[in-house]
Amino acid sequence: MSNSKSFSYRNAALYCESVPLDLIASEFGTPCYVYSRRALAAAYAEFDTAFAGRDHLVCYAVKANSNLAILNLFAGLGSGFDIVSGGELHRVLKAGGDPGKVVFSGVGKRPDEMREALAAGILCFNVESEAELKVLNQVAGDANKTARVSLRVNPDVDAKTHPYISTGLKENKFGIPFEEAEAVYVLAQSLVNVRVSGLDCHIGSQLIDLDPFVEACGKMLGLLDRLEARGLQIDHLDLGGGLGISYSDETPPLAREYVAALCACVNHRRQRILIEPGRALVGNAGLLLTRVEYLKHTAHRDFAIVDAAMNDLMRPALYDAYHEILPVCRTKSGSAKPYQVVGPVCETGDFLGHDRSLALSQGDLLAVMSTGAYGMSMSSNYNTRPRAAEVMVDGEQCHLIRERESMEHLTAGEKLLPA
Ligand code: LLP
Repeated sequence: MSNSKSFSYRNAALYCESVPLDLIASEFGTPCYVYSRRALAAAYAEFDTAFAGRDHLVCYAVKANSNLAILNLFAGLGSGFDIVSGGELHRVLKAGGDPGKVVFSGVGKRPDEMREALAAGILCFNVESEAELKVLNQVAGDANKTARVSLRVNPDVDAKTHPYISTGLKENKFGIPFEEAEAVYVLAQSLVNVRVSGLDCHIGSQLIDLDPFVEACGKMLGLLDRLEARGLQIDHLDLGGGLGISYSDETPPLAREYVAALCACVNHRRQRILIEPGRALVGNAGLLLTRVEYLKHTAHRDFAIVDAAMNDLMRPALYDAYHEILPVCRTKSGSAKPYQVVGPVCETGDFLGHDRSLALSQGDLLAVMSTGAYGMSMSSNYNTRPRAAEVMVDGEQCHLIRERESMEHLTAGEKLLPA
């Protein structure tokens, strides 16, 4: 089981740290995301300490899970943040994050978002096109500021991951094509209201092999040499996020192996190293707790209809992603059947798992594992379903870190036409 230290069975009952999950279900209801504070802190520490004496900044990719309590926890550990919208900036600031440790990525930053980020004094804009660079220069000029920039370069490396989450191939929309990067740096240097400060890439997500990271890093270093030869001053090297986690039987490198490989690659160069991990910090630190509403046995299949759905956890429907599904109580006398674990949403794509061998009764609780990343943050209100509650476990304590949405939340902001 993923993250066995923070989620484990004691006798027959599944626990998060020292709290039995059935207690959380009765106190906070289901569906409910449950996170382990210990697992989050341990994941951060593993990245951070692996850099040893080297100048570095871990910028947590907020999109993976943007709950304020999680951002606040990482901020307290010294983390920086990788944001992709004004909304994420707002969250980071509200959670007490240091704007001086924020990098702003994304292909479509709006001028108002740039203004807010400049006003907050972020560390760096990861610029993804020449057009964006010109708009940023203009916006910064109007605000009487200088924007620190990195160019996000697309190194054209095959990350060998799901095509929807691969970003570093030349056919992807991300980054500035490798061959054009030098020319755009020269342009950046000539603009008055931007100051070149770094070099950036991100090649994809859920990578379970070090080779593509090392290949991309090597290409970036070649580019770095050429930029320095032209007299550009590059202070940091942002090598993106993307380290994968184990959902079933994958064996991704450990964070410390990944960091060691990057440090070895960058070697004696003077630049500070930035990384932007999302999934590897939070993915295995969370689960989605759900209750079996009904069992439905047909001549063809056995369905377990649970109270969590694709609106709560979109990854299975969107990427055909696998998440382990565990019984919260595993003393079942009945025989296991291969269940289709599905939600109540009116779509055939609304499933959480196919052919899962489980012994179930109506009312049982299930835990959908490794859902700390891209679970809650990708949830929606489809079918007018209130979003789940979120709970953080800390030893024997449980903290509600997001209330379950109410019906009032769901329609707030909507208005009838005038009579
Ligand atoms: N930096 C940039 C610029 C990114 O685009 C991303 C993720 C990250 C960092 C963090 O990547 P991570 O370390 O989490 O792999 N919704 C998908 C994942 C999309 C990732 C998008 N970009 C999923 O559920 O698998």
